[in-house]
Amino acid sequence: MMLNRGKARAYANIALIKYWGKRDDQLVLPMNSSLSLTLDSLYTETEVVFDEKVDRDYFYLDGKIQDMESTNRVNRFLDLFRDAAGINRFAIIRSINYVPTGAGLASSASGFAALAAAANVASGLNLDHRELSIYARQGSGSATRSIYGGFVEWKKGTNEEDSYAVPIDDGKWDIGMVIVIVNSRKKNISSREGMKQTLLTSPFYNNWVESAEEDLKRIKIAIENRDIKLIGKIAEANSFKMHATMLGADPPLLYWEPETIRVMEIVYELREEGTPCYFTMDAGPNVKILCRLSDAQRIRRRLEQGFKSKHIIVAGSGPGITVL
Ligand code: DP6
Repeated sequence: MMLNRGKARAYANIALIKYWGKRDDQLVLPMNSSLSLTLDSLYTETEVVFDEKVDRDYFYLDGKIQDMESTNRVNRFLDLFRDAAGINRFAIIRSINYVPTGAGLASSASGFAALAAAANVASGLNLDHRELSIYARQGSGSATRSIYGGFVEWKKGTNEEDSYAVPIDDGKWDIGMVIVIVNSRKKNISSREGMKQTLLTSPFYNNWVESAEEDLKRIKIAIENRDIKLIGKIAEANSFKMHATMLGADPPLLYWEPETIRVMEIVYELREEGTPCYFTMDAGPNVKILCRLSDAQRIRRRLEQGFKSKHIIVAGSGPGITVL
C-alpha cells in the first residue's frame, strides 16, 4: 500500500578500498569493487512526501530550498521509485544532514541512501536491502554501501542488476575512525567530475583498477582476522594509490591542503609510538584515521594540539538504514 510519506536515516560510510571511476555513467556501474566502514556519528535524515498539491519536486536541505541542479538530481532519482510504483505525484523532500555537505565526508552516500529508504516507504514499493542498494547506487555510487552497517563491499557486478552492496562484517568490535575536518568548504571538483577526468586522462588508471581489486581481496582476509594493522596498511596504501592516479589526470587533481599532510605526519608519529592508526583521504582535504575505538580519544587529544576540537569527530562503526 502506498503511504505517500516515508522517513529514514542513513549513516555515512568511508571507503577503505575506494571507488573511483564508472564504466557506465547512467547506471552508475563502477570500474572496480570497493569496501567501506559505515560510521555511527555522521548521518542524514530524510522525509519524502508524495503530494498531489505540488507541481514539481521541492527539495529542502537543512531547511533551505535547493537550486534546480540538486533538485533535478533528486527528481531523477525519485523517478525510479515513481516509475516502479506507478506514482504520478511530485514530492516534497526534507533532508537534514548531520555531515558537513561536500566536505569530502561522503554526504552523498548517506544522502542518497536515506532518500532511497524514505522513498521506499513513501512509494510502498517495499524493496529489500539488496534492491535498495541497487536503487541507491543510481543516486550516488557510494550510497550503495550505506544501506548496510559495519564493513560493506560494493560488488562491481557484471550488469545493472548485480552491482550492489553486501555486508561483510558487522563492525561490532574495537574499530573506529577519527575524522579531522581540515576544510569544510564545498569542494571545487565533485567526485563525479573528478573520477571522469581521471578515468579519461590518467595514464595510471588501468593499474589503479587492477591494484584496487587486489587490495580488496587482501583487506577482506584482514577484516576476517580483525587484523587492524593489516586493514589499516592496505587502506592507507589504497588511498595513496587513488590520489596518485588523480595526480596523473589532465588537468591534475590535487585535493590535499597543507593541513592534510600535517595530519598524516601526526598519524606517523602516533604509529612510531605504538598506536596502530592509519589514514585515508577522499575527494577533499579531510583526513579519516582508522584506529581502535579504544584508542580514539587518545588520538583525538593528540590532534587537539594542532587542530580545533570542533574539527575532530570520533566515530564508531554504524548501523544500516533505519526507517523512522
Ligand atoms: C572518493 O559516490 O560521491 O569517496 O557515484 O558520482 O555520486 P558518484 O560519486 P561518489 O564518489 C565517492 C568517491 C570516494 C570513494 C568512495 O567513497 O568509494
